[in-house]
Amino acid sequence: MNRTHLELTGVGIEFPTPKGSFRALQNVNLKIEQGEFVSLIGHSGCGKSTVLNIVAGLHQATEGGVLLNGREVNEPGPERAVVFQNHSLLPWLTSYQNVELAVKQVFKGQKSKAEMKEWIEHNLELVHMTHAMHKRPDEISGGMKQRVGIARALAMEPTVLLMDEPFGALDALTRAHLQDSLMEIQKDLNNTVIMITHDVDEAVLLSDRIVMMTNGPAATVGEILHVDLERPRDRLALADDPQYNHYRSQVLSFLYEKQRKVEPMSPKKKADSSKTVAKSSPNETGKKSVEVA
Ligand SMILES: Nc1ncnc2c1ncn2[C@@H]1O[C@H](COP(=O)(O)OP(=O)(O)OP(=O)(O)O)[C@@H](O)[C@H]1O
Ligand SMILES: [Mg+2]
Repeated sequence: MNRTHLELTGVGIEFPTPKGSFRALQNVNLKIEQGEFVSLIGHSGCGKSTVLNIVAGLHQATEGGVLLNGREVNEPGPERAVVFQNHSLLPWLTSYQNVELAVKQVFKGQKSKAEMKEWIEHNLELVHMTHAMHKRPDEISGGMKQRVGIARALAMEPTVLLMDEPFGALDALTRAHLQDSLMEIQKDLNNTVIMITHDVDEAVLLSDRIVMMTNGPAATVGEILHVDLERPRDRLALADDPQYNHYRSQVLSFLYEKQRKVEPMSPKKKADSSKTVAKSSPNETGKKSVEVA
């Protein structure tokens, strides 16, 4: 029988807080195949990072659980590399050494010293960071730290790559470059990717499926959109592709019609509430790219 590669079944979580317990997730069900690229999208605070952290083994679900190749996930493991929302490099190590630490953990006894050095440099090269590889995190920009975090995760050759808004802090050009690299790397390695994003275009460009989450508390999977666009995908060609634009509007409709975010508002904010909640900025295709607020 064909076993599902990664499976979340009935996942729920309650966090203890000073005001009592807070139910962040309820009955999250998701089956992911080997090599699939899945994006999680939803409004801020709905529970995307919490889902990712449960798959990473960093949080324990209160109900339900996660199976990876049939084995229960309840702690972190090198086959599930995480790129965190806030870059998380060790501040006393250089970029090179941060990647080296992960590479040594995974490839000790398999790669020689010279092979490890080559592999570390190769992964830093993928994210265009070789020029600053001997700098420490406090000597490089936020976007550069994020790129080292991505290199570190890729260098582990993980079966499952978990990415929490990996490109959010980057400028449009670097973001486009890394999106393209990620598509190529994933094609070569056929690893499974779960990526959280706030960027609707990024979700459509990269994903096989887009998992759209409902607003919290007790957030869950709202809808799942299959993105049936041929690969390799070309961002410029897709900008005018009717199918691409159809997928894009499906996601926008979910976020801004079906799950429109309603937050408690001050009287002043209430007066301004006719304004849209979507932030948009021109992207590298010249189109407006829409980000979820
Ligand atoms: N350790 C915790 N203790 C209590 N509440 C928590 C904890 N972690 C997350 N939450 C709450 O759970 C909900 C989901 O948080 P989460 O960080 O998963 O959201 P998110 O969708 O990733 O948001 P964003 O897009 O802003 O990153 C939020 O209401 C958050 O306040
Ligand atoms: Mg988050």
